Amino acid sequence: MRQVLEGQPRLRAQTLPTASLATRMDGRNRPASSKVKYALALRVGRVGLELDKANYYGSLLESSTVCLGSGPDGEVYAPFRDLLPMVHPNDIVFDGWDISSLDLGRAMERAQVLDWSLQEKLWPHMSQLKPRPSVYIPEFIAANQEHRADNLIRGSKAEQVAQIRRDICDFREKSGVDKVLVLWTANTERFCDEIPGVNDTAENLLNSIQTGREVSPSTMFAVASVLEGCAYINGSPQNTFVPGAVDLALQRGVFIGGDDFKSGQTKLKSVLVEFLVSAGIKPTSIVSYNHLGNNDGLNLSAPQQFRSKEISKSNVVDDIVQSNPVLYRPREKPDHCVVIKYVPYVGDSKRAMDEYTSEIMMGGTNTMALHNTCEDSLLASPIILDLVMLTELCQRITFCTQDDPVFQGFHSVLSLLSFLCKAPLVPQGAPVVNAFFRQRACIENVMRACLGLPPQNHMQLEHKMTRSFMHSEENHIHDPVLMNGKIEHVKACQSAKYIDINGQEKLQHTIT
Ligand SMILES: NC(=O)c1ccc[n+]([C@@H]2O[C@H](COP(=O)([O-])OP(=O)(O)OC[C@H]3O[C@@H](n4cnc5c(N)ncnc54)[C@H](O)[C@@H]3O)[C@@H](O)[C@H]2O)c1
Repeated sequence: MRQVLEGQPRLRAQTLPTASLATRMDGRNRPASSKVKYALALRVGRVGLELDKANYYGSLLESSTVCLGSGPDGEVYAPFRDLLPMVHPNDIVFDGWDISSLDLGRAMERAQVLDWSLQEKLWPHMSQLKPRPSVYIPEFIAANQEHRADNLIRGSKAEQVAQIRRDICDFREKSGVDKVLVLWTANTERFCDEIPGVNDTAENLLNSIQTGREVSPSTMFAVASVLEGCAYINGSPQNTFVPGAVDLALQRGVFIGGDDFKSGQTKLKSVLVEFLVSAGIKPTSIVSYNHLGNNDGLNLSAPQQFRSKEISKSNVVDDIVQSNPVLYRPREKPDHCVVIKYVPYVGDSKRAMDEYTSEIMMGGTNTMALHNTCEDSLLASPIILDLVMLTELCQRITFCTQDDPVFQGFHSVLSLLSFLCKAPLVPQGAPVVNAFFRQRACIENVMRACLGLPPQNHMQLEHKMTRSFMHSEENHIHDPVLMNGKIEHVKACQSAKYIDINGQEKLQHTIT
């Protein structure tokens, strides 16, 4: 901790002599007085925490690990980031657009997210970064954002999209980067009407841009990015990916992903409900209150923008509930209510309060109340990095099946990003998975497959056997860390039999 107090202007004052004290001299009481001088530093010191070392806590890829298997010294873990060659966040070059002209130094100061001492250190770098002008269509975001809009691309929608495309090319050229990915992390917009003839196909959407019909700014950015061959990720809840935008991405073979970063309350919900339902406990009511005081909260205080967020947050338990027909009848769901209020005082420290009520045995209820202070922007930032790193990695993965030996890449709608999104976008007809651990296992197992490792099944049969194959020296993991580019793993066991309830030997599975 430190205080910035030196060398500051001071307010000085002096009091008149006072006689508040008495001293006893020569057996008599005498009043004693003294002039007192006061000095008050005019600048209030900002107390800050010193960050010893930068880290990427909260990033799945940078700060979490994967269990590769068991070795003689126990389980072997490797950081996600070391499994496959991946972009390091320090090597990402940033640029962007904002309807607000503040440079990032002043924007950082206005947002009051980072500790003051950290802001001071970052100031020389941040103040050099200036956002490019952006597209502002007032009806899409809350009216309370209007005063920020002083950095705008003028002209028709077609001219604006053309300018965004020029910006992308300019950035690519000046920065010298190998790849450009574009991510929407601007204000939540209202939902866009999905209208046949306007945005239902790529052709109609492109035509609507030319003729100035209803297209949201986030969709205009999506179109510009896809036309430039850049993957586009939507970190906000609105329906940026109208059918025409998805169609365009498919036609161009460009990745799109979203929607809405899964950072705080929803992340916890996708863990907790999965835990309850998979433990055979039946959640019947989930009530979620939020209050936050940042600019996102101000924008969400408008009804249409709140509605976008409410929709994005509302479906998060659906697949988990549907996975358990023992607990839930078809179409039965727990009551689920989401409230968001703008409370300026709490700033970026969003408060999320949840009450989960569940039915347990014999008509009992189990109620859990949670209070979660989510440092909103600091939880979202590593997710933004993960989205970029994972998307870039997916651009380099191809695979084939036994029936179709020609290598192919992932579908343009990159559902592998679901782990990082509140309302995962998936290819048409594909199941939406919100359950946290299933989403994580998907990423982990895809990476394991690229390394030739079997999917993680957590059986740990080697530790549950009477005669473990672990005793064989050749089956040990000799070189557990991947730094030397080498991975060795325990050879999987082959088969299992079981005796059924009537004492009959029944099945023989091959276990990989
Ligand atoms: N934990 C989180 O922070 C979190 C989690 C999930 C989703 N989100 C979503 O991410 C988005 C950003 O959140 P935030 O807290 O950073 O909000 P913010 O209000 O602090 O920042 C949004 C920025 O976007 C700018 N902007 C608005 N319209 C624009 C446009 N058309 N073009 C370019 N810039 C524009 C604004 O001027 C502002 O600087 C919101 O939609 C929010 O709901 C945030």
